[in-house]
Amino acid sequence: MKYFMAPLEGITLCEYRKLHSTMFPGAEAYYTPFIAPDTQGNFREKYLRELLPDNNEGIKLVPQLLVNRPEPFLITVSKLKALGYNEVDLNTGCPSGTVFAKHKGSGMLTDLKELDSFLNTVFSQTEIAISIKTRMGVSDTAEFAGIAEIYAKYPLKQLVIHARCREGYYDSPPDIDGFAAIFEHMPFPVCYNGNIFSRSDLNALKEKVPGLELVMVGRGAIADPALIRTLLGGEKLRASELEQFHDALLEALLSRGMAPDHVLSHMKELWYYMIHKFSDAAQLYRSLNKTTRLGYYRSAVSELFSSGKFDPERSFSGGKYRE
Ligand SMILES: Cc1cc2nc3c(=O)[nH]c(=O)nc-3n(C[C@H](O)[C@H](O)[C@H](O)COP(=O)(O)O)c2cc1C
Repeated sequence: MKYFMAPLEGITLCEYRKLHSTMFPGAEAYYTPFIAPDTQGNFREKYLRELLPDNNEGIKLVPQLLVNRPEPFLITVSKLKALGYNEVDLNTGCPSGTVFAKHKGSGMLTDLKELDSFLNTVFSQTEIAISIKTRMGVSDTAEFAGIAEIYAKYPLKQLVIHARCREGYYDSPPDIDGFAAIFEHMPFPVCYNGNIFSRSDLNALKEKVPGLELVMVGRGAIADPALIRTLLGGEKLRASELEQFHDALLEALLSRGMAPDHVLSHMKELWYYMIHKFSDAAQLYRSLNKTTRLGYYRSAVSELFSSGKFDPERSFSGGKYRE
């Protein structure tokens, strides 16, 4: 089985990817969180930073685009090629209301004729390898039969299927049966994504989709940066590794010039996931979340690692922390 690290907007920044790939190697590739060019194919400095080869040394990185018109897609592709990229991913999965309303992300699944015409133009006008990361529909995963028919017309490098519809956001149970029904009929490599948080989740998936060879992990790997190593049969995460990873990431974000307040809120967002590796830690988690200065935050984290019960067997549960 090969594993990919999912893109998580605001979380899997280049500092995260670099550190993760060094401390927890094993991912086949990382995807950038979506890059949203304007209608002229221009994108902001913050996106360029994510793409610069110097910021992604030693990593196989697939840039992901959130765009629904061929022109900006193709202009951006030429910029990506100039930076040395030979693969790009199209996001047809983002469920956010504003994105959807603009017919981008999962909004592209509302009009399959438009989707077909978009793919027809971009595949005929660029040589770059194109992969797609999709949802299985807008309000029902049964829509995927029609969507898959469109995708199957094009030579995709890879199709990553987040096995939910848009309206399932991140909470509905993934439709593994629906995924399994379509998986073998696709003429290109298909990667499963959705709620793989532990070895037992993986085993259940493999039982239902025996021929599966590609899996993408997101929130489970943020909660447990050693998830891919564990899925590959390696050692479980140790508390000392998580602490080292946390401290190094915090320093890397400060060194890049991120404002301390921003670093603080960024690190708290990571704890929404990582706290799941601790049991009986609700009070320590609350204290950590209440801190408003980095100094206090560092003390709260150190308290969590010294008095919290780190449990290598615990994994992200898909929602809020429960004891
Ligand atoms: C905070 C957050 C940000 C995300 N950002 C992106 C993104 O930029 N592009 C994308 O394709 N998916 C994005 N996703 C979806 C994930 O890549 C993944 O498909 C989803 O979390 C399901 O996988 P998981 O259950 O392994 O987490 C995001 C998810 C979350 C929770």
